[in-house]
Amino acid sequence: MDGGHCRVYAVVNQKGGVGKSVTSTNLGIGLARHGRKVLIADLDSQASQTVSLGWPRPDELTCTIATQLGKIIENKPIDPLEGILRHAEGVDLLPSSIELSGLEMRMVNAFERERALRRLLAEIKPHYDAIILDCPPTLGMMTVNALAAADRLIVPVQPEYLSVIGMTQLFNTVALIKKHINPGLQIEGVLITLANMRTNLARNTLAIIKEAYGGSVRIFGQPIPYATKIKEASAAGKSVFAYEPNGSAAFAYEKLVREVVRDGRQIGADVRSAKEIEPDR
Ligand SMILES: Nc1ncnc2c1ncn2[C@@H]1O[C@H](COP(=O)(O)OP(=O)(O)OP(=O)(O)O)[C@@H](O)[C@H]1O
Ligand SMILES: [Mg+2]
Repeated sequence: MDGGHCRVYAVVNQKGGVGKSVTSTNLGIGLARHGRKVLIADLDSQASQTVSLGWPRPDELTCTIATQLGKIIENKPIDPLEGILRHAEGVDLLPSSIELSGLEMRMVNAFERERALRRLLAEIKPHYDAIILDCPPTLGMMTVNALAAADRLIVPVQPEYLSVIGMTQLFNTVALIKKHINPGLQIEGVLITLANMRTNLARNTLAIIKEAYGGSVRIFGQPIPYATKIKEASAAGKSVFAYEPNGSAAFAYEKLVREVVRDGRQIGADVRSAKEIEPDR
């Protein structure tokens, strides 16, 4: 296998605290529950994904995404699966640590610095059906690397007025990357998160987002509600599916997962169906 069947999703928004990491966790675990072999890659030097999936001391890990990217920019050979950890709910994790911020500085002068992650993933892709990139809240080096490496973007946004402004900036960056580095990049959809649709403000902002972008970008039909259970689940290192399987958050994230699975199937025969992959864990 050359990795052609593997699809890379970046969960991206330069705004902080909009649910990128929670969405990465639940999309990743949700796809694994549908039989996909999934890797979640933590691209944030804050390492909150790594911590919340159950590795509370990322600095003690001997191999992280920073180690692997360091080898890539020095043109050293890598073992593509080195450093990858396995979570109890059937997803793998390429962890991060604060070392990633040092590496980002070293990358500034590296040859083809925007393509380092793409080169790393080219070696990892043959082992997975889907890779989820949990981006940091900036439009800096790691996010640009994620946009250069991804097939599809999922953009979580909170229904607040300021989010609309941030989206324009993000979509401009996406257009530039598409033009110069990654012509195949597509936006899978905008995901409304932390939504309390009972408030007028949220409803009005959603209307603004739909009016501004709904014509060109899909807005997933099911918003992710504001739910205390989501916070609790991520503090417990679990997905919403394990933490509260019949809750509104699990329902909403399952809808997202199904849309993503359906789109993956439409694209082609190269995406293996859930049946063909034996869930071996
Ligand atoms: N739908 C939700 N309901 C309630 N709390 C949520 C929801 N989604 C995320 N949270 C909580 O909000 C906080 C921010 O979420 P998360 O870490 O996923 O955002 P992020 O976009 O990854 O943040 P950062 O930009 O810092 O990486 C976390 O404490 C998380 O548990
Ligand atoms: Mg995050």
